[in-house]
Amino acid sequence: MIHKSVDSAKSGGSCPSQGGGQDMAARQQQEDVAIKNSLSKIKHKIFVLSGKGGVGKSSVSANLAACLSKKGYKTGLMDVDVHGPSIAQMLGLKDLLEISENQLLIPKEINGNLKVVSVQALMQDKDQAIIWRGPAKTGMIKQFVSSVEWGELDFLIIDAPPGTGDEPLTVVQTIPEALGIVVTTPQEVALADIRKSISFCKTVHLKTLGIVENMAGFKCPHCNEPIDLFSSGGGEKTAKAQGLEFLGSLPFDTRVVTSGDAGVPMMFEDNGSDFTKAFDKIVENILKQL
Ligand SMILES: Nc1ncnc2c1ncn2[C@@H]1O[C@H](COP(=O)(O)OP(=O)(O)O)[C@@H](O)[C@H]1O
Ligand SMILES: [Mg+2]
Repeated sequence: MIHKSVDSAKSGGSCPSQGGGQDMAARQQQEDVAIKNSLSKIKHKIFVLSGKGGVGKSSVSANLAACLSKKGYKTGLMDVDVHGPSIAQMLGLKDLLEISENQLLIPKEINGNLKVVSVQALMQDKDQAIIWRGPAKTGMIKQFVSSVEWGELDFLIIDAPPGTGDEPLTVVQTIPEALGIVVTTPQEVALADIRKSISFCKTVHLKTLGIVENMAGFKCPHCNEPIDLFSSGGGEKTAKAQGLEFLGSLPFDTRVVTSGDAGVPMMFEDNGSDFTKAFDKIVENILKQL
């Protein structure tokens, strides 16, 4: 059962000194084969990352998945943010995921083309904090990747926690062919962390599709005057300085918050807003590069 397996990841698996060494090696080999099989049916894997929390990784992941699936691409969305899984809320995943006959997790299907799984769907108590050390998280993410019945996909979007630690590193090691998208907000405090993310990508040889600048500018709903809430232009400047593609800028829009909280990403709607137009351009830029 998947729940039992997650418990074993929590405890770091069985200990070789207790005679489980061969068992563990065999299990890991099985897991590696399962991961390879599952990933071989997925054309493009896109890893959305950032050195900073709260910049919009999950919102960009959810909307990117929604937009691609709306365009007719078979899309998967996987949330491996053990400490702050937002995708379940943003896509309206309310129940624990079902398990197939082969003991694999069945993703939730939305609007025909989108399949979603979140680590949160494995947790019985959604409000309980997960307090795990690196090896437990690494084991859990690897196992999660190997335990989902994705089938054939055009895109898999992976949303991970912020930073350059165990979780992003495990994603890169488990899915080495993934392409990164770095999300930032325009102010220097965020950009300082983003430069670390870019250095992380270079160090671990994660090819990067480019930088998305989020929450760049807000139009006052009363007078339509633009307000730079978090400064402006920092994402593009950083992309240039680091020799990366600038994929585009997304404005601040309160509907991103309400639609995320309601479980229906804004890109599922066709509301003609500046946000959806800007997002469409970003997706065009991504598709051009692929
Ligand atoms: N462009 C945007 N306009 C308005 N709110 C946004 C925008 N992007 C993200 N948010 C909101 O900011 C908060 C943090 O975003 P989230 O995607 O959870 O960030 P992260 O995954 O990087 O921690 C959420 O409440 C989300 O709805
Ligand atoms: Mg998040």
